[in-house]
Amino acid sequence: AADEIKVVVDAAKPGPVIHRNIYGQFAEHLGTGIYEGIWVGPDSKIPNVRGWRKDVVGALKNLKVPLVRWPGGCFADEYHWREGIGPRSKRPVKVNTHWGGVPENNAVGTHEFFDLVEQLGAEAYVNGNMGTGSAQEMAEWLEYMTAEGKSTLADLRRKNGRDKPFRVHYFAVGNETWGCGGNMRPEYYADLYRQVATFLKTPENNRPLFIASGGNDQDTKWTEVLSKNVRWNFDAIAHHYYTFPSGKWEGKGPAVGFGEDQWISTLANTLNIEKTIVKNKAILDQNDPKMRLGLYMDEWGSWYDPEPGSNPGFLVQRNTLRDALLAALHFNVFHAHADRVRMSNIAQMVNVLQAMILTTKDKLILTPTYHAFEMYTPFQDATSLPVSVQNNPTYSVAAHSMPTISATAAQGKDGKLWLGLVNADATKPQELTLDLGAAVKSAKGRILTAAAMDAENSFKAPNAIKPEPFEAQAVNGKLVVKLPAKAIVVLAVER
Ligand code: AHR
Repeated sequence: AADEIKVVVDAAKPGPVIHRNIYGQFAEHLGTGIYEGIWVGPDSKIPNVRGWRKDVVGALKNLKVPLVRWPGGCFADEYHWREGIGPRSKRPVKVNTHWGGVPENNAVGTHEFFDLVEQLGAEAYVNGNMGTGSAQEMAEWLEYMTAEGKSTLADLRRKNGRDKPFRVHYFAVGNETWGCGGNMRPEYYADLYRQVATFLKTPENNRPLFIASGGNDQDTKWTEVLSKNVRWNFDAIAHHYYTFPSGKWEGKGPAVGFGEDQWISTLANTLNIEKTIVKNKAILDQNDPKMRLGLYMDEWGSWYDPEPGSNPGFLVQRNTLRDALLAALHFNVFHAHADRVRMSNIAQMVNVLQAMILTTKDKLILTPTYHAFEMYTPFQDATSLPVSVQNNPTYSVAAHSMPTISATAAQGKDGKLWLGLVNADATKPQELTLDLGAAVKSAKGRILTAAAMDAENSFKAPNAIKPEPFEAQAVNGKLVVKLPAKAIVVLAVER
């Protein structure tokens, strides 16, 4: 039919590789994001490996977590690495001034963090302290982590139990320096970055990619100033984009119990991330035509009003089917811009904002967002394929509207052709055909959906929402996919 929704994939024109780092995580010293959530200490009754919870680490391994960013966030610009090494009982207790004013006992420091990433088989993204630190402090931290031969700092590392250097893959110079990281102007930060980065040295075989703190939301000024003025030890710009249902910082909207107006406003606000990526990429293309610089979306996700009764500084929120679709929409956008978006980090991994996992005492639940990440693992390091949706209906509720279908396609490392599809419409199923330019037999994969927009897993019903098997058959060589309302489908196509 003329109005048939058609997903057209051009398998003959492979695009850039979807870097597995697009599926990166972020763990900050914030609320129970680290303490209680993953770190319980080696003496805990909760089963752990050197202090890290076995259940949480095990669940995260299923996501093939490529990297973890640590120790913040805003916390990073008040973190002094020397306070987090040596015997834990002797480490100073500080006030976590950003997040709830609670004691920070420095139990998780450099050695513990690297133990976590090594247990996960992930890479380390260390965020340096530019706000209250110095070039010297960052340079010495890098020397402590990476020096190989004779050096007092390397000897200190050895004394603290680590002989061989830690592998530091990514190092950021400050965080949100336009705000909690120092309220700077981009020109001032660019100059400071040039100065500080001069002194950030490591052995050549352990040189991290260096990341400058960039803009927020739809801002482009930071990308403009940084890409024009910085040259040395500069590999990527970190950009942040959070989704608020109301579109505003004040009165963001609830995580559960919302109507279809907030369902669509949230998902439509998420899609606006593509506008900021396109604008920032255009500037990079002008100032960095050799494509050296990455645009790292190193904080993203839903941000709701805090869970009633929780410490507002702990950023506790529930996680529903809406969050899973929001994550999948991000993935589809990131894949489409994989040439520059070579890393992204959802905020945050456990118990904070749009978490993969929620814990209480020795229990955990996997959130709908966790399932979206797990379903999309075949896209890690896959080769993106150009995809377009023809006759994509507009989904509208009240003053909001957005395209109904979002699609992504890639040639997986497993040789299979993978499709990721989202039907954002909360009430209406959609039927679409797939045009691959060649005959298709069938497709098999999984679906994530539920009866309610705010379906969630809880400690009483931990498996209320989880992926289920899904199949699509070909009619006359064309695959017909029947997408239920409010659903994510990930499929491997049989040709
Ligand atoms: O993820 C929570 C906070 O959001 C981070 O610490 C900060 O960088 C951002 O404002």
